Amino acid sequence: MAVLEILKYPHPVLKKRSKEVERIDERILRLIDDMKETMYGANGIGLAACQVGVPERIIVVDVSPIDPQHNFFAMVNPEIISEEGEIEHEEGCLSVPECFEKVMRKKIVRVKGISPEGREIEVSGEGILAFALQHEIDHLNGVLILDRLSRLKREIYRNRLKKERRKEERE
Ligand code: NI
Repeated sequence: MAVLEILKYPHPVLKKRSKEVERIDERILRLIDDMKETMYGANGIGLAACQVGVPERIIVVDVSPIDPQHNFFAMVNPEIISEEGEIEHEEGCLSVPECFEKVMRKKIVRVKGISPEGREIEVSGEGILAFALQHEIDHLNGVLILDRLSRLKREIYRNRLKKERRKEERE
């Protein structure tokens, strides 16, 4: 297993729609292991493959630090099949440093996909599990939390980032 580099906004791969996985082979299984290690290494509760530069539809999630009822799982080609309610949730993203903002999420989602073993699986949840699933599936569609903010808040973040870059260049 290896810790991979996590791409940061505005890397172009983060804006792309990731492709469906057609076959779960050794390469995919190794990628899932590496994603798991990378997520834990960064103290994240979820990660999408595009965040490590692979635009394919794979997510890993482990919300147990917040909700111990749910353990680690990986899902290939995840798809939301039902959703319920709406709620604001404050979240961050490993690819969007220093951005913690409230975004609108569904309260409950049901997601189906393929396990690393090739079985069709369904996960449904509310609270942090539902938010993590929506956040990671957003990544597969090239959507970042920034895209879910108001235009004003997005501009504020972009300007802050630009300022920091300029400061770094001067140093
Ligand atoms: Ni994220």
